[in-house]
Amino acid sequence: MSDLRPAAVIVLAAGEGTRMKSKTPKVLHTIGGRTLVAHAISAARGTEPTYLEVVIRHQRDRVAAHVEQVDPEAIVIDQDEIPGTGRAVECALSALPDDLAGTVLVTYGDVPLLTAAVLRGLLADHARTQSAVTLITATLDDPTGYGRVLRDADGGVAEVIEQKDATDEQRAIHEVNSGIYAFDVAVLREALTQVGTDNAQGEKYLTDVVGIARARGLRVTPYLVDDLWQTEGVNDKVQLARLGAELNRRIVEQVMRDGAIVIDPATTWIDAGVSVGRDTVLQPNTQLLGATSIGAECVIGPDTTLEDTEVADGASVIRTQAQLAEIGPGATVGPFSFLRPGTKLGAKGKIGGFVETKNADIGPEAKVPHLTYCGDATIGEGANIGAGTIFANFDGLTKSHTEVGPWSFVGSDSVIVAPRTIGAGSYVAAGSAVVSDVGPGQLAVTRARQRNIDGWVARRRAGTRTEKAAQAAAAADAEEALSTEAGAVLEGDRLEAGRPGGSEPPPPPAEETREA
Ligand code: UD1
Ligand code: CA
Repeated sequence: MSDLRPAAVIVLAAGEGTRMKSKTPKVLHTIGGRTLVAHAISAARGTEPTYLEVVIRHQRDRVAAHVEQVDPEAIVIDQDEIPGTGRAVECALSALPDDLAGTVLVTYGDVPLLTAAVLRGLLADHARTQSAVTLITATLDDPTGYGRVLRDADGGVAEVIEQKDATDEQRAIHEVNSGIYAFDVAVLREALTQVGTDNAQGEKYLTDVVGIARARGLRVTPYLVDDLWQTEGVNDKVQLARLGAELNRRIVEQVMRDGAIVIDPATTWIDAGVSVGRDTVLQPNTQLLGATSIGAECVIGPDTTLEDTEVADGASVIRTQAQLAEIGPGATVGPFSFLRPGTKLGAKGKIGGFVETKNADIGPEAKVPHLTYCGDATIGEGANIGAGTIFANFDGLTKSHTEVGPWSFVGSDSVIVAPRTIGAGSYVAAGSAVVSDVGPGQLAVTRARQRNIDGWVARRRAGTRTEKAAQAAAAADAEEALSTEAGAVLEGDRLEAGRPGGSEPPPPPAEETREA
């Protein structure tokens, strides 16, 4: 392979893409979580070129900034006002060393499904046939719009004629130029000096290099690619969606070949670069986006979107929206959970239904099972956060942090006003508003003591159904008391030994009776 490495790959991305009807430059539209030009750069990089150039013009600052971010080593080339693919390549070559030798590949920034493997095949064929030019061609049912490939008697390429310059006879040819080529750099450089703009579009056509090379008796070889998706470009938003769906189909298929189980490939969307471990089950309507990675033997979905999220082996994440989160081995999340950036869930931890987390480091075996907002918090190993607990992290001006120690227990419906520390092994009684720190081993209770006022309903809600219900209950109690008395008379001492349950309320919990 190493001797096949190209001297340069030139990615053409200067076109305006008017048919996209978009404020966004065409090559910055995304499929599979990456821009079109990022896909093109990734394929180009896969051939390990000495130089990688991207030619731009339309909205150059936006495109240049993006290219720089995607691949800082790529060289951004500005095309001048002379239009055409030939001019674009000429501009790119002028930035390379004069004595550069070897092969130059030309690809397009708007052809996102092209793979490095096809480019390597092109390079290998180019070397094997000792051609001056090798171009990827494809046979299309409808070749409208493409440059047609005119073959010569020995099967080589004689010429490429653009649709607009072609005769009816030439337009009947179904083999088209994909626009992806391997050139001998010296031949390319020389030929481009001879390319004019005398054609239907007044552009400097790269395709003219083919005829010029042939006229010099050099070999021009077609490299026919059967997989038409590899050479299809995006010109409008219909094609964007079409290629996006096909890219997804390919990614999902690869994930299954690598060992994941995908219940419904049609509703499973996976970005390029996401990894999914073996025997993990992806349920319908699952989206795995960005830099997400999923371990082995997990269950993800249904109805789950994970972005830039890491899920360790054996975790289950159901009906969940997560971004920049880390989910530990064997942990469970969902249903209906919202994990915002900075959420970390430890091994075998739990984030349950209707829980929102943000900047929350939840320790191993810790549980936040129901109806909670947990923001800016560190929760120790094995701690239990009761239903409806709110971490009040924002006072209107600043965000503050809460720490809950290991194996502590926060009772339901508590609000913890940050900054706050709840010590290791401590309790917060249900319904508390915690405004001062709790030490290890302490119980915090902040609610008022309960008073039960006898006869209140009879006095204040007389005649209501509530009062009737109370009366009925009182009558039933009285009757039961009577029959119990009667039974006691009949059964004597036996009742004293084992009092039947329900006739007396259980003792109140400790914090009810012994609060400070
Ligand atoms: C070109 C080919 C045609 C081929 C077709 C495949 C020429 C003259 N024709 O057609 O044979 O069948 O591609 O899609 O090359 N670009 C620049 N600078 C320019 C013009 C274009 O960088 O001045 C870039 C575009 O951004 C795009 C690519 O080159 O990525 C192709 O341009 P486009 O206008 O789509 O191709 P055509 O000229 O129609
Ligand atoms: Ca095109």
